[in-house]
Amino acid sequence: MKACVIGGCGFIGSHLVDGLLVDGWQVIVFDRVMERYRAPLPGVEYILGELGNKGLLGTILRGVDVVFHLVSTTVPQSSNESPVFDIQSNLIDTIGLLDACVACGVKKVIFFSSGGTVYGIPRAVPVSEDHPTEPISSYGIVKLAIEKYLHLYNRLYSLPYTILRPSNPFGVRQNPSGQQGAVAVFLGRVAQGLPIVVWGDGEIVRDYIEIHDLVRAAILSAETTAKSQVFNIGSGQGTSINTLIDIIRSVVDKPVAKMHLPARPFDVPSVVLDISRAQAELKWKPQASLEDGITRTWEWTKSVE
Ligand SMILES: NC(=O)c1ccc[n+]([C@@H]2O[C@H](COP(=O)([O-])OP(=O)(O)OC[C@H]3O[C@@H](n4cnc5c(N)ncnc54)[C@H](O)[C@@H]3O)[C@@H](O)[C@H]2O)c1
Repeated sequence: MKACVIGGCGFIGSHLVDGLLVDGWQVIVFDRVMERYRAPLPGVEYILGELGNKGLLGTILRGVDVVFHLVSTTVPQSSNESPVFDIQSNLIDTIGLLDACVACGVKKVIFFSSGGTVYGIPRAVPVSEDHPTEPISSYGIVKLAIEKYLHLYNRLYSLPYTILRPSNPFGVRQNPSGQQGAVAVFLGRVAQGLPIVVWGDGEIVRDYIEIHDLVRAAILSAETTAKSQVFNIGSGQGTSINTLIDIIRSVVDKPVAKMHLPARPFDVPSVVLDISRAQAELKWKPQASLEDGITRTWEWTKSVE
């Protein structure tokens, strides 16, 4: 089987490429830049380009069985700063990608949506895939709009798809100086001897999933025929920011200080995903503990900071 991983040089994409290679897939990576933390992998074809370059995508997707779409030009905070940019660079460019997939006869598109933002403020946790979707960031609205277009393209052109709604993935190669990923950013601050910045009182709850668990779910969703098209992928466990910092304290070999700043309007108070559908249909369950995953991530963070 041949996969094209769009955004394959990013955090999740780089691990997905590893997993696909282990499973014997032929892999093309399409990204605007090469990987930040390691050299190109032998056996992988890297193509540099922009998601909006429909002509280029229309040539490289010929003969590809599965397209994994992991590009996002925004995170929740930056998306609200310019919704127009968010819509143009993510929604509109994704529709161009879907046109290219149809034209090239791609057999399936796997889209990385967002379990943390599409539901908005959950009415109760854990949140199942059937929970109402009322996002409070442009990022969440655009993810949801892309989900709807996948559904439309399936109806119009019979383009098969699976939507993954990951919670909060973490692990090695998540940018410690980036804008997304509390574990990475907190460990990066600790490695630099800086206080962890906590928005609000630290009682917001998130569902942290170790990257290898997420990648296994993504590959299973491509390799198996499941009844459903939308899957929450998380640990199913809620952890507050304050508890996360306690775990970090217990793992790292450096002092951990924190400072509080005012809460941000786009942070929902609590998101924990109901993962029973993925467990049942993908025959998948998360395996890594938060402590073990943070320990591995800390060792890596020290090596790059
Ligand atoms: N990391 C998280 O916490 C998280 C949570 C839920 C969902 N997701 C989604 O999973 C996907 C992957 O996330 P990630 O953490 O690996 O992000 P990332 O930023 O590490 O990787 C994204 C990759 O896309 C590339 N890219 C961005 N814009 C591009 C463009 N216009 N053309 C070509 N390439 C472009 C980047 O160069 C980068 O390599 C994203 O869609 C993200 O929204 C991430």
